[in-house]
Amino acid sequence: MKRKYLIGVSLLAGGALWFGLGQSALPEGPGRDLVLQKCQTCHEIGFVTRERQTRERWDAIITEMQAYGMRITPEERAIILDYLATHLAPGAQAPARPPAQAQAQAGVSGAQVYNNCVGCHQANGAGIPGVFPPLAGHVPNILAARGGREWLVQMMLYGLQGQITVRGSNYNGIMPAYAQLSDAEIAAVLNYISTQWGNAFPSGQGPFTEAEVRAQRGKNLSPQQVHAARQQLGLR
Ligand code: HEC
Ligand code: HEC
Repeated sequence: MKRKYLIGVSLLAGGALWFGLGQSALPEGPGRDLVLQKCQTCHEIGFVTRERQTRERWDAIITEMQAYGMRITPEERAIILDYLATHLAPGAQAPARPPAQAQAQAGVSGAQVYNNCVGCHQANGAGIPGVFPPLAGHVPNILAARGGREWLVQMMLYGLQGQITVRGSNYNGIMPAYAQLSDAEIAAVLNYISTQWGNAFPSGQGPFTEAEVRAQRGKNLSPQQVHAARQQLGLR
């Protein structure tokens, strides 16, 4: 079934019917030509240019495309992944088009949303050792973990419960769920804790977007499931 569909799609693309569609929306940068060459043999490049994804997600998408039959060498794969993760990261602007999402979020202040968190994690993000874990100097470790970005969104939506260890201190408290906040508010507060107190996004990662938050809604995880997911992050 899938194979039949693919052949049909390939034939169409082979006719270069779609060539050029959305091509201008691919920013300049090393690897762009390779992406143009490899990523529009089965579908139009608009499938790629409209996405804003984390490196991790792009990695998974490329794997998916390989399962669909895309042929690339490991070297080409690395170049394509770097290009996509750099230029089509969450928050990346399409060239010469106004960033609608960034504008929509501009109204929400992460600092203001952080007022919900201050009582426990403290204004300086240091938390209280043994009671509330620190965010300062710690959030970047979560961001850098494989799956850490998505996990942070899930933790905000569904809470966290279970024993964890952060920088040698144990915690076994309750991190409340904040599903009542809007997508924009959750993105804003995550961007705040990712960039305050000397914290910064790992290279290749951009700010959280509303779409990233929306994608994790409706999963109905329990705080214990979020805890189990945390164990998979390999945090030290
Ligand atoms: C061998 C064929 C093939 C190649 C080559 C290919 N894709 Fe795809 N791609 C597909 C198929 C099939 C779908 C699913 C289409 C659908 O479900 O409507 C898809 C869908 C997508 C989607 C939509 C989201 C998703 O996960 O389904 C994205 C994004 C995407 N491709 C990116 C890429 C990128 C980036 C490249 C180049 C690195 C690429 N594709 C190369 C076959 C291919
Ligand atoms: C009532 C106290 C409380 C409030 C309010 C609170 N937290 Fe937490 N938070 C905790 C506790 C306790 C944990 C650790 C949970 C555990 O032990 O499993 C935690 C964990 C976290 C973690 C994960 C740390 C890790 O290493 O897993 C982050 C990130 C976080 N909180 C951010 C926030 C943000 C952002 C807000 C505000 C929107 C907030 N918290 C509000 C108590 C709180």
